[in-house]
Amino acid sequence: MTGARIAVIAGDGIGGEVIDSARAVLDAVSARHGIELSYTEFDWSCQRYQQTGAMMPEDGIETLRAFDAIFLGAVGWPGVPDHVSLWGLLIPIRRAFRQYVNLRPIKVFDGVRSPLRTADKVDFVVVRENVEGEYSEIGGRMNRGFPDEMAVQESVFTRVGVSRIADYALELARTRRGYVTSATKSNGIVHTLPFWDEVVAERAAAYPDVQVDSEHIDALAAKFVLQPQRFDVVVGSNLFGDILSDLAAAVAGSIGIAPSANLDPTREFPSMFEPVHGSAPDIAGKGVANPVGAVWSAAMMLDHLGFPEAAADVLAAMEATLAQPQTRTRDLGGTASTAEVTAALIAELG
Ligand code: NAI
Ligand code: MG
Repeated sequence: MTGARIAVIAGDGIGGEVIDSARAVLDAVSARHGIELSYTEFDWSCQRYQQTGAMMPEDGIETLRAFDAIFLGAVGWPGVPDHVSLWGLLIPIRRAFRQYVNLRPIKVFDGVRSPLRTADKVDFVVVRENVEGEYSEIGGRMNRGFPDEMAVQESVFTRVGVSRIADYALELARTRRGYVTSATKSNGIVHTLPFWDEVVAERAAAYPDVQVDSEHIDALAAKFVLQPQRFDVVVGSNLFGDILSDLAAAVAGSIGIAPSANLDPTREFPSMFEPVHGSAPDIAGKGVANPVGAVWSAAMMLDHLGFPEAAADVLAAMEATLAQPQTRTRDLGGTASTAEVTAALIAELG
């Protein structure tokens, strides 16, 4: 492939600001590598919801299906409940396109201060199961409004679902330091998580070159803080992966630099790339948002689309600008604007 068709959903708040920055960086790196990216913009957002009553049109998923990738800024705005923006856009995309891997790399870069005092390199990836587990639609409420009101929500763990996420983590570890940590809680959750452990162990047997440890989620959370440098690939269920990846982003110094990918590794459907942060209404429109989370997500998109050299160039440009105090945004203790960081990234890309 020499090019790709990308659907762009800037979303709300700083979503548009960081997407603009990342697109400028993508243009620079594409020119350098002779890659032709075409973009189609969609105004799907909370603003659209307020005007029309829906985050996206009814045929939104059908429309996105034709693209090679989806690049998303952030959605969410005061006045629109967060579950509307999540279940009206992000979750339907993840599920309809079977994006069963949520990938979140964590790195403490030179020049970025982690809240932890660790001298060693922190460089690991959280692999979150993204379509089943605890985030199921199975359950309900009964006896509403009465003293015996109750709520039940089922967790769903399937052999196919656990096997493929374990395989993804094991394959990824082979390209890194060969070490997988599986998040569990099979001492307390006595049906689903022993099953998770069993299936992970079965898959691990096929990768004798990869070391696999199982850790209970409570102890694992403590180790993320106390010894983040020991991890390489951490795999967890939907809920455990969600919590661990936000904790990990905090350990890395700022939510503003954290990227994520929602992947369909089979490539039947488009995958989606988005910074971890939200729409940041408190700083929206001020031109001070850190664009690095979106830029790193764009690099992950290039990698997935088959342009690893271009992705590596973007990462190198990010590392160089983060290392300089004058090209760090406020969230990292600097004074640079979004535009100044963007210009510096483009200059690095020559
Ligand atoms: P948030 O990530 O938008 O902001 C949290 C704090 O981090 C704020 O103080 C913000 O200024 C700062 N921050 C975030 N990104 C930054 C960046 N790139 N540069 C500098 N500072 C940055 O989370 P919050 O405030 O909880 O949520 C705001 C809205 O965003 C809500 O409606 C929420 O639902 C939505 N949201 C959407 C997500 C998505 O689209 N995937 C993810 C998280 C939240
Ligand atoms: Mg989260």
